[in-house]
Amino acid sequence: MSDGWAESARAWIADMGSTGDFARTCVLDRPMLERVADGRFTTALDVGCGEGRFCRMLAGRGIKAVGIDPTEALIAEARRREPEGDYRIGRAEKLHLPDASFDLVVSYLTLIDIPDLAPAITEMARVLRPGGSLLIANLTSFNTAAQPGFGARLGLRPAVDRYLEEHVDWLSWRGIRVQNWHRPLSTYMALLLGQGLELRHFAEPSPYAGPSARIARYRRAPWFLIMEWRKPTG
Ligand SMILES: C[S@@+](CC[C@H](N)C(=O)[O-])C[C@H]1O[C@@H](n2cnc3c(N)ncnc32)[C@H](O)[C@@H]1O
Repeated sequence: MSDGWAESARAWIADMGSTGDFARTCVLDRPMLERVADGRFTTALDVGCGEGRFCRMLAGRGIKAVGIDPTEALIAEARRREPEGDYRIGRAEKLHLPDASFDLVVSYLTLIDIPDLAPAITEMARVLRPGGSLLIANLTSFNTAAQPGFGARLGLRPAVDRYLEEHVDWLSWRGIRVQNWHRPLSTYMALLLGQGLELRHFAEPSPYAGPSARIARYRRAPWFLIMEWRKPTG
């Protein structure tokens, strides 16, 4: 069954525009880019790169990025926007890439979209070189347990439900309709720890720009987390 991404690609590209949506431009981009600003990374893999926005941001900072995504229309758009970029059709669960081949692996709001999380985390750790980092931005598990719609859109207090149970919901917004996976935070942590990765950074970022009413709304509820996991050298 389709996960909605092929059908939603056109609306997704329109919604991202040239800069990205509120979540990206007003909450996540700045703290994500802070993690890559110190020159530690020269090569990156962006898993679930969409239309290539974050790959282009990395390229602008001198980090050579490969973007993979299973949605053909999004890869086509990424190639159109950056013809010299390296964009490939692929799924996180089986990366056709060599072991230890990237300084940095990025998952920017994609863990919630990946149906088979355990092999995806294994693959992300495998392609990371020792000393490299897996940088994750994700919806918090409190948020995904309050889907669909995250009640706040209706002016309701979001109700967290079925928290400990992995499940998938259909979400719709602005012409996009895709599946989103909920997993408890412990599922993510157990899989990442199980790969021997070490947590070096954890943040629940707050909006730093945008309309004041929206900033206030995003401060009321748990929306996003950012984690950087390091692959040990020893
Ligand atoms: C919410 S979008 C995020 C796109 C991009 N990272 C960004 O921040 O703009 C989720 C992306 O995950 C991709 N995706 C869905 N299933 C996937 C899978 N199994 N492996 C890798 N990416 C997947 C979708 O095609 C989509 O581009």
